[in-house]
Amino acid sequence: MYNDRVIDHFTNPRNVGAVENADGVGLVESESCGDRLQISIKVEAGKISDIRFKTFGCAAAIATSSMITELAKGMDIKSALSITNEDVAKALNGLPDGKQHCSNHAADALHAAIRDFQQRESRRE
Ligand code: FES
Repeated sequence: MYNDRVIDHFTNPRNVGAVENADGVGLVESESCGDRLQISIKVEAGKISDIRFKTFGCAAAIATSSMITELAKGMDIKSALSITNEDVAKALNGLPDGKQHCSNHAADALHAAIRDFQQRESRRE
């Protein structure tokens, strides 16, 4: 059902955990399945210098969380905000039918973390 890349990211997830003294944190809870994703980021010179995730969910939710941390790491925050659900699924060589919605949560959590960072920044100004 899952391809090798999805299985690899599920069984050997990258960037698990929480960034210490995070600059932004995004949390997404799915109303439909109850899965929960948290992404925390560190931003330096406008770029995501560190990113970690904690996901309580299905294999696809964990694999998409892992993949999005790889995609976003080192990226400037504007570009990271434009990472789409489709980008994540594509980077994983696709998700099975019925699991497409799982990639939505990873992108949503990343965007929420970036928005949290931006709000903290604007409060400092
Ligand atoms: Fe909930 Fe996949 S079933 S994110």
